[in-house]
Amino acid sequence: MRLTLSVIKADIGSVGGHTKPSTRMMAAVEGEVAKAICDRLLIDAFVCHTGDDIAIIMTHTRGEGSSEVHQLAWKAFLAATSVAKTSGLYGAGQDLLVDAPSGNVRGAGPGVAELSFDHSLSGTRPAESFMVFAADKCGPGAYNLPLYLAFADPMYCAGLMLPPMIKGFRFHVIDMDNTAGDSVIELDAPADGYHIAALLRDNERFGIDRIVSRTHGEVAVAVSAQRLHAIAGKYTGKDDPVAIVRNQGIFPAPEEIVSPFAKAHFVGGDARGSHVMPLMPVPINTPVTGMYCLPIVSCTGFSIDKDGRFSESFTDFFDNPAWDEVRRRAQRKAIEMRSQGWSGAAMLPYSELEYGGFRDTVSSLLKRFQVRKERKPEAAE
Ligand code: 13P
Ligand code: 13P
Ligand code: MG
Ligand code: MG
Ligand code: MG
Ligand code: MG
Repeated sequence: MRLTLSVIKADIGSVGGHTKPSTRMMAAVEGEVAKAICDRLLIDAFVCHTGDDIAIIMTHTRGEGSSEVHQLAWKAFLAATSVAKTSGLYGAGQDLLVDAPSGNVRGAGPGVAELSFDHSLSGTRPAESFMVFAADKCGPGAYNLPLYLAFADPMYCAGLMLPPMIKGFRFHVIDMDNTAGDSVIELDAPADGYHIAALLRDNERFGIDRIVSRTHGEVAVAVSAQRLHAIAGKYTGKDDPVAIVRNQGIFPAPEEIVSPFAKAHFVGGDARGSHVMPLMPVPINTPVTGMYCLPIVSCTGFSIDKDGRFSESFTDFFDNPAWDEVRRRAQRKAIEMRSQGWSGAAMLPYSELEYGGFRDTVSSLLKRFQVRKERKPEAAE
């Protein structure tokens, strides 16, 4: 069976500020999704939230970009938006940027990551397992470094030295500033490793779109690398990417995939989407309530049975005491960075300050700059 995994997520309103969706909003999304499973549009689905972003994780056989699956997600988000509006919640409908997308919701606001594979539970995939990363309060390139380290650096993934992976992986890197369409370059690790790094270092412009096994041609990773401001033409919250990562066997093991997140590396995001702050790994359904507005990321794991259904339970990777140490480090790094307030590296450069007001403030001052008239040199004594 040709199986597709689709993760579609949106920030459509939250309680007490931009913290988390309400219980009734989650129930509204779950209700629509349950109907779609009953109607056999979906084989299975799981709904969770990270901060105030709701993610719908789905399996089906309708292929990537299926208008029926995308419309179902849109309908579920509209139902939750209506709850958010009735309850007077903050940012109701925030990521639903168009009135009614026809078909595919990519480019309409929600984040979309999708990949497909032949699902037979035999050959190179006697078992199918995958992980879903979901982030809130951060920019679209938040996974650039961790995914590069997991799929291109044996210091993080010793499994790359094994026969099924030793030929490396092909990185599809997308230029997120190109609004004409999906502008993608394909580069092979390890041969083009430095070229890949030269692009991925710029988290705001370039993002990993996909990673494919060079040995087996199987897609390992899909990321929702898109910029909301490129769609909306103005700041509408941070991009908060989601990613699907298949693991084990011909792909890195889960511990090799999550270990780069121990860095709590600095990403663009945080309060008003305008700071540079560490990415903190958290359990799913964690609200954003700490000091500052730390970028957070969750990671769930699933297995899939022969009929394409999820295992009866899931794994919450960052809900483990091992990550408490990383969370403490992230918080320490955050306190250090924020101790310099607005200065230099602590905030994003002007071009990335999409939060309307910051740019307006600077733009109005720019109009008042004047080139100073040349002064006559002082007469020598
Ligand atoms: P298990 O023995 O628990 O399957 O672990 C094997 C392994 O290789 C972990 O990466
Ligand atoms: P959201 O994208 O979650 O709404 O966060 C935006 C923001 O500006 C946080 O301060
Ligand atoms: Mg929000
Ligand atoms: Mg959000
Ligand atoms: Mg967000
Ligand atoms: Mg957002």
